[in-house]
Amino acid sequence: MNNTVICPGSFDPVTLGHVDIIKRASKMFDKVIVAVLVNMSKTPSFTIDERIGFLKKAVGDIENVEIVGFSGLLADYAKERGAKAVVKGLRAMSDFEYEFQMALTNKKLNPELDTVFLTTDSQYMYLSSSMVKQIASLGGDISYFVPACIHEQVFERLKITETRKDLSK
Ligand code: PNS
Repeated sequence: MNNTVICPGSFDPVTLGHVDIIKRASKMFDKVIVAVLVNMSKTPSFTIDERIGFLKKAVGDIENVEIVGFSGLLADYAKERGAKAVVKGLRAMSDFEYEFQMALTNKKLNPELDTVFLTTDSQYMYLSSSMVKQIASLGGDISYFVPACIHEQVFERLKITETRKDLSK
């Protein structure tokens, strides 16, 4: 039985909360495709290639995990790759409405595609990529929030971007 699933997201950048969900999914399913997709309601801070690079460092060593970038519809990509389900982490009730809307839309576009929600580990309940970006660009310590192998790179990149913004005022 082919149990391929997709963990989609902006991953801008990947956090320890994402890593936890990807690792748990990799133990539950045969293959996990981590897909860096476009969220039209967000302006990313990192390019797709940078985000893929961070993910490769963070979870690229897990045997049944593949990391890809895709600029189209998740429902189409899932069909193309023969994925049965989308796996997403749910932090709190506040995530639910948005995630539920996406799950139902994806199901409408691809009736074969289900969505499985994993509850976030309680230590990552509050964690989000936008919080990480805010902390790093103000010079704060992000080592509690992103994988150790990328935190320096993420921090330096966001710090530099913020310095440039200051200079352009
Ligand atoms: O990490 P995010 O930003 O919450 O992830 C949202 C994402 C990227 C999974 C979603 O925006 C998405 O699926 N984008 C791909 C385009 C698409 O299929 N849009 C319709 C989804 S309802």
